[in-house]
Amino acid sequence: MRLRRCAILMIEPVERLEFDLSLLSGGGSGLRTVVDWVAIAPHLGKDVVLSTAEVALLGALSPSRWTDREELTAAHPCEVLDALFDKHLLVSESTAAGARDQALRDTNWRTASAVMHYASRWRGVDTEAVEQQFAETAEGSLLDRLGAAPPVVRERVPASERQRLPAVESTPLDALLDRRVTCRNFDASRNLTAAQFSSVLYRAFGARAVNDYAPGVQLLKKGVPSAGGLHATEAYLLVQRVDGVTPGLYHYHPVDHALEPIRMLTADEAAATARRFVAAQAYFVDAHVIVLPTSRFLRNFWKYRNHAKAYRALILDVGHLSQTMYLAATELGLAAFITAAINEVDIEQAFGLDPLEEGPLAVCGFGLRGHDRSEVEFDPLNTVWPAA
Ligand SMILES: Cc1cc2nc3c(=O)[nH]c(=O)nc-3n(C[C@H](O)[C@H](O)[C@H](O)COP(=O)(O)O)c2cc1C
Repeated sequence: MRLRRCAILMIEPVERLEFDLSLLSGGGSGLRTVVDWVAIAPHLGKDVVLSTAEVALLGALSPSRWTDREELTAAHPCEVLDALFDKHLLVSESTAAGARDQALRDTNWRTASAVMHYASRWRGVDTEAVEQQFAETAEGSLLDRLGAAPPVVRERVPASERQRLPAVESTPLDALLDRRVTCRNFDASRNLTAAQFSSVLYRAFGARAVNDYAPGVQLLKKGVPSAGGLHATEAYLLVQRVDGVTPGLYHYHPVDHALEPIRMLTADEAAATARRFVAAQAYFVDAHVIVLPTSRFLRNFWKYRNHAKAYRALILDVGHLSQTMYLAATELGLAAFITAAINEVDIEQAFGLDPLEEGPLAVCGFGLRGHDRSEVEFDPLNTVWPAA
């Protein structure tokens, strides 16, 4: 059997508290700190705790050259090699872990970016429960503990030395920007019209032209910029309340401006799915349309392979899409939201996405705003909610 080290691996010394009964007899708390070596290996989708001997051996194994097992056992302790093989950090050509490692290599991820992405994905996180637990166990208010925030502006010179710019004449764009307020009060009693739904999707996510850039390479022209014109971000949808559209999971085809059905849901299933996607942030669950902006890593990394900025470009693309969705919705008198507190793994599973190929970086959505402001919205200009 031929073996090699997995391609992408980062090892972090992580401190944790451990309870030891014997420490209580000395009058202490029974707690002591322990430092574990934790391997973050994106091809596994989970963290792995390592012994010191395993960490040392990982530093001696080639990730690029296949080596016969006999050759390795002649040079290194057999039990440490076996432990690394069992932990899927040392892989062979014939195992599932080896195939996942190869798939990761083929996607051209940069190591630090892959670690950042795969280490920050959530599964089944319930932010409501976490907040409640935090409030019950922590003393004092959050503000007491955080102290004053850094100032809103980092001022570099005294006010007298600032060069004032001409006053800006207000245009409809200013009025639109002023009305853009993140919505946390969607109206679950009404439907979006098909025309509203279609307009927002097209303006934010639709393609305005397809360009045959080179043999085998097509680019899209959209209303948003995108690194390399690649537009590697797909819009997956959870539709809840739109006239003429059955609630369910869809993929939006940006060139055909069409819905690709993936799975139909009952209204209750759709709400439960929405709640899972937004990590139980209840105020977003009623959004009429939930959009899962999902990066296709290989489409971007096909060009920007192993590039230090490639993953950052994908994140920036999602920001542009989301703001355009906000503005397209706001122009029609609709409301929108975005959140980064999302359960990526649950979203990938719901849509049948292989996380090594594509993954959501945020959840956003749009719909009709309700008449009551029961959840907080940040509207200091009172453009959406009249002053109390
Ligand atoms: C990257 C990003 C992540 C966000 N995550 C959350 C979130 O997890 N929960 C939430 O309620 N709002 C979230 N928001 C919305 C912000 O709270 C909101 O933009 C901010 O309060 C300012 O309000 P405004 O958008 O109405 O101007 C997020 C916004 C951005 C851009």
